[in-house]
Amino acid sequence: MSTTANRVGSVAVGFDAVGFSQDFPALHQLVHGKPLVYLDNAATSQKPRSVIDAITRFYEEDCSNIHRGVHLLSERATKAYEEVRLAVQQFIHAARPAEVIFVRGTTEAINLVAQSYGRTHVKTGDAVLVSAMEHHSNIVPWQILCEEKGSKLRVIPMNDRGELLLEEYEKLLTPETKLVAVAHVSNVLGTVNPVKQIIRMAHEYGIPVLVDGAQAVPHLQVDVQDLDCDFYAFSGHKMYGPTGIGILYGKKRLLEAMPPYQGGGDMISSVTFEKTTYNSLPHKFEAGTPNISGVIGLGAAIKYLARVGLDNVATHEHDLLAYATEQITRFSGVRVIGTAQAKAAVLSFVLDGIHPHDIGTILDHEGIAVRTGHHCAQPVMQFFGIPATTRASFALYNTEAEVDVLLRGIAKVQEMFA
Ligand code: ALA
Repeated sequence: MSTTANRVGSVAVGFDAVGFSQDFPALHQLVHGKPLVYLDNAATSQKPRSVIDAITRFYEEDCSNIHRGVHLLSERATKAYEEVRLAVQQFIHAARPAEVIFVRGTTEAINLVAQSYGRTHVKTGDAVLVSAMEHHSNIVPWQILCEEKGSKLRVIPMNDRGELLLEEYEKLLTPETKLVAVAHVSNVLGTVNPVKQIIRMAHEYGIPVLVDGAQAVPHLQVDVQDLDCDFYAFSGHKMYGPTGIGILYGKKRLLEAMPPYQGGGDMISSVTFEKTTYNSLPHKFEAGTPNISGVIGLGAAIKYLARVGLDNVATHEHDLLAYATEQITRFSGVRVIGTAQAKAAVLSFVLDGIHPHDIGTILDHEGIAVRTGHHCAQPVMQFFGIPATTRASFALYNTEAEVDVLLRGIAKVQEMFA
């Protein structure tokens, strides 16, 4: 394998993807006798040794519950947990640590907002606005809310390249619309949506915006204050952290006015059988023993990304995507799904006459891991009139040589079906 370091014209010259890949133990294995080429990073990324070690160290040395004990282990665990909150605050440039809520992942973050903010603010006849390229996790929680409230789910349309139509969007910013919920980066199309503009437009009508950042945070610098988003949701496991941990960012003013999502330990300030008063932010939204080891692993992932530098990662992945797109479009019978001007790290495609599941199975036997299917975005498949796509998605450790392996795999698939 080679790095992209020497590719002529590459702005990522000097980015040592092969060197970074040494930090990820799972990448160095044979799959069906072939070296693993892991291109399913939009589903979940691999984890660097430092993340795995941080979790192990917590269980070996500090394992204890947090916010509850006066003993040393509990103090150490609490300190480590709260330090990660500060690291997340810095990572997304939030104004306050209290605006960072630890949740299970993007899905739980969106459900929290739908159930807490949504149930309070969305009434019969109101509307929630999502986009045509959302993941099911940014559709279904709103549908559940709309069904309960007798309100409407409206959809911002997109064009054939997979770009949102902002003139149509503006028409949907009516007095009925109580919230806009939109992906920063599409998990199928790779489109980077102009969320800053989308937020500014919604705010002109006094409408708050939730951004699903699951596919953005591993690839782009996110500054929630600059975006001025009201809520921002993301997961740890796509950004080299563990599964089962994610973040809901919310503006303090909104979070403070919202009722709790779940009741239990740690989210209270006092309980009697007559009445409970709730804890202050962020604890009001963290009922029960949280995923402490997950938070600590996420902290290690943030440190790892900071060492590599998100801007470097973005440039490297942009180069890989450009190379892969240019090469794949030379094949006959290939259609790339998602050709927006602004894209990040995702290449979805279909091959004439070959089902993506067959493509995925053949590629797997070449050691290549890609995702095939509807990618939890069935409305996107319906829009493009296809049942499924094959999706290669890139991370900081992928190389141009691995893209070449993918291209050879696609050629083999086409030969087998010729
Ligand atoms: N949402 C993840 C994906 O797109 C699981 O694959």
